[in-house]
Parts: sequence; C-alpha cells; structure tokens
Amino acid sequence: MKTLNDYKAALEAYLEALPISGAPDILRQAMRYSLLAGGKRLRGCLLLAAADMAGEGGESALPFAAALEMIHAYSLIHDDLPAMDNDTLRRGKPTSHVVYGEAVAILAGDALLTHAFETMLKSDHPRALPAILEIAAAAGVGGMLAGQTLDVTNEGETPNKELVLRIHEGKTAALLTAPVTAGLILGGADNGLVRAGRAYGYHLGLAFQIVDDLLDLKGDPALMGKTLGKDLEEKKLTWPACVGESQARRDAETHIRAAADAFAPYGDRALFFRDLAFSTLNRTH
Ligand code: IPE
Ligand code: IPE
Ligand code: MG
Ligand code: MG
Ligand code: MG
Repeated sequence: MKTLNDYKAALEAYLEALPISGAPDILRQAMRYSLLAGGKRLRGCLLLAAADMAGEGGESALPFAAALEMIHAYSLIHDDLPAMDNDTLRRGKPTSHVVYGEAVAILAGDALLTHAFETMLKSDHPRALPAILEIAAAAGVGGMLAGQTLDVTNEGETPNKELVLRIHEGKTAALLTAPVTAGLILGGADNGLVRAGRAYGYHLGLAFQIVDDLLDLKGDPALMGKTLGKDLEEKKLTWPACVGESQARRDAETHIRAAADAFAPYGDRALFFRDLAFSTLNRTH
C-alpha cells in the first residue's frame, strides 16, 4: 500500500517536469514560483489515492493530481492579493504579488487555472470528462468561488454558523472533495463508492478549515509559513469566532469521525483516507 510520501514524490516529480510552453518567461517563472513552493499536496495526493483505491494505481491520474495542485495554487495566489486577504507570506516565502507585482500575480493565477484544464484534457484519459466536471464544479461558481465570495464580502459581519458553514463548504470542502470523487471516477468506481468519497471529502474539508481557523489563532508561524492572527485583523468570519475554540476543536473531531465513517464499509482499502483524516486534527502546518 502506498503512503502519502510515495504519492507526494510522484506528484512533485510530475509538477517539476510539467511543460509550460509558449508563456513569456516572467509568467512561466511566476507560475512555477507558486506551484513548486512546497505545500502539503493534500489535494493532489487525495486524487492519486482515490484513483488507486478504485484500481488505477499507475501514472494515468498524475495530470489530474497536478491540475488540482495548479487550481489550488491559483486560489492561494488570488486569496493572498491585497484586494482579498492581503497576505505577504505563503509557504514560508513572499507571496506572488510581493515578488512579481499584482498584475503578474493575477495573470499567474489565471494561467495556472487555465493550464490545469489544458493538462487534464491533454491526458486523453477515457474517463477524463466526468472527472473534469467534478473538478470544474468544485472550483467554480457553486464551489470555491462561492465560498471565497462569501468570505471576502462578509468581513466584519456578526459571526453565525450557517454562513460560516457555507463559506467553509465553498472555499475549502469543495476542493478537498473533488480530488476524491474525480480520482474514484478516473478509476471506474461505482456510484456507491463515489458517494462515500463525496461524504468523506466534505467532512474532511470542513474539519480542515476549522483547524486552519484554529491554527490562525494558535499555530506556530514558523511551521505554518504564513502570517497568523490575520483572521482577527481582517475581521473574518471563522468557526472559532462562532462557537469558541474548544467547541471548534470538538466540531473538527466530529467531522473527522464522520469522514472516517463514510469510508468505514470499505475497510482496509480506505486505510490511507482514514489515517489522513485523523492526522488533520493534529496538523501543525
Ligand atoms: C491552505 O491550504 C488554504 C486552505 C484551504 C486553508 P493548505 O493548508 O492545504 O495549503 P498548502 O498547499 O499545504 O500550502
Ligand atoms: C483560503 O482560505 C481558501 C482558498 C484559498 C480557496 P484562507 O484564506 O483561510 O486560507 P489561508 O489561511 O490564507 O491559507
Ligand atoms: Mg481567504
Ligand atoms: Mg487567506
Ligand atoms: Mg486561514
């Protein structure tokens, strides 16, 4: 059985060698600066593990895993812009707009998003289209973009759980669910398994963002590689702001148990997913 590090190594090598042809030097540099800046690679590895679980363990899922990481990197570049969260540090390095200026940072984000779809379509995988649909919908207007819009337009509002849940479902759970469902679809999984994967990703994503909110309050900046305390400064609606830190911690645990339960019928085949879910609760970065 492969581990997170096995998937991560394969994905890093693929990303490092990813062709970006035709781009002016500065655009290519800015794309690679954010794409190859490290990061946990959770989304890409979830996709590889899901494809593996459904019986497709080789290299054919790599373009899709890379695409998830390109879309994620784009979302972070734009999230950090002065007009959004106004952050100057990401993955322990200056943010894209600090290094390249806002115009090139915006374009690098646009480029990574577009290149993700070009890379997936070029793969010629027989089940590419339904997998791409999962990913497009998760990144799009009903997914990550919905969450990000609600996040930035509700700064300073009174925290309420219903709204924060919608923000977290969009900005984070969508892009943690799509790798699981798309990976399973690529591997030819049946509807029951895809449904289980959707429930797993949803709860993992919600727990992941609650923990992100908690780490913004209490994390170690050196390990996190981003400026902490920003949610309070920007008056963000967060889960701890709604329910307090201890309850937020308990809610993250409840979501992780729900994520593990979703895959419980699949026993040892889902071991990777179970371990990854529980490790999210104790993550330090
Ligand atoms: C950061 O995601 C954005 C959130 C959804 C909280 P990650 O914590 O997965 O970031 P990297 O990829 O490891 O840097
Ligand atoms: C960002 O959420 C989610 C996306 C980029 C889609 P946050 O704004 O909380 O993420 P960090 O804390 O900047 O990583
Ligand atoms: Mg944000
Ligand atoms: Mg942010
Ligand atoms: Mg955050």
